[in-house]
Amino acid sequence: MAYGTLLLEVDDHGVALVTINRPDKLNALNAAVLGDLDQCFKDLEDDDQVRAIVITGSGRKAFVAGADISEFAGLAEEDATQLARRGQGVFDRIEQCRKPVLAAVNGFALGGGCELALACHIRIAAEDASFGQPEVNIGIIPGYGGTQRLSRVVGPGTAAEIILTGERISAQRGYEIGLVNRLATADGLIDEALRVAGRIASKAPLAVALALDAIRTSTNGGLEEGLEREAVLFGRTFATEDAAEGIGAFMEKRKPNFKGR
Ligand code: COA
Repeated sequence: MAYGTLLLEVDDHGVALVTINRPDKLNALNAAVLGDLDQCFKDLEDDDQVRAIVITGSGRKAFVAGADISEFAGLAEEDATQLARRGQGVFDRIEQCRKPVLAAVNGFALGGGCELALACHIRIAAEDASFGQPEVNIGIIPGYGGTQRLSRVVGPGTAAEIILTGERISAQRGYEIGLVNRLATADGLIDEALRVAGRIASKAPLAVALALDAIRTSTNGGLEEGLEREAVLFGRTFATEDAAEGIGAFMEKRKPNFKGR
């Protein structure tokens, strides 16, 4: 199996390591990455040799620095709603995977990167990693599940702080609020994630799959409705002048001038 934007290795314990490989763009999620992730998780789900999956980003700097903002420019409201549904669909596939999925967060996990980590079942972070939902900085809101999953993982108050300020939080703070399961050194991150994944891979696969199903049921009441609402509101932000200004300002590497329109 080969994917244009992903690297894939499977070890002797049946642990697949998926690496998002766009380091020059800090592994930002463009349409090609979303398509590859979708296909890759479909393939891994069907592959009986694979018992657990670790996902990480290429390079030392970023896990994923967000959805690819260059694909946002000029999106109309309905296109943006569809884009949110597409991202949500790919991340739903990851969350609903019958095999455990661990995020090994090796740097910036911002916007869609934080949302990708949230769709994973377990998050292990390098001590120098950071998390955030900076969408408000460009005049939009999270659209790949962040408004729903972050609240479920850290509670609505802390989620509101992270989403409304757009500020980055350290891996240590992530650990304190329950966003991060465990911390590792930057050098030891992948080994630690593979070790935890390997331990789970040694358990009874059906029990692991059923446990994941039960855990999902415990937390996902109303998720479908919440995701639909998020997609519609994400789209609505694209009908504002401020979103055009925020996205344009990012592309032109300048500060945005928001007008509340
Ligand atoms: N979408 C598209 N391109 C992105 C990106 C994103 N989300 N994040 C980073 N990049 C690109 C940059 O444009 C730059 O490309 P260039 O070299 O062709 O100019 C490259 O990745 C390196 O990023 P750069 O900004 O130069 O690195 P930095 O160390 O100065 O800053 C960040 C790192 C993560 C703070 C900064 O890239 C950033 O703020 N990214 C956007 C984060 C975000 O808002 N994500 C949510 C999107 S909804």
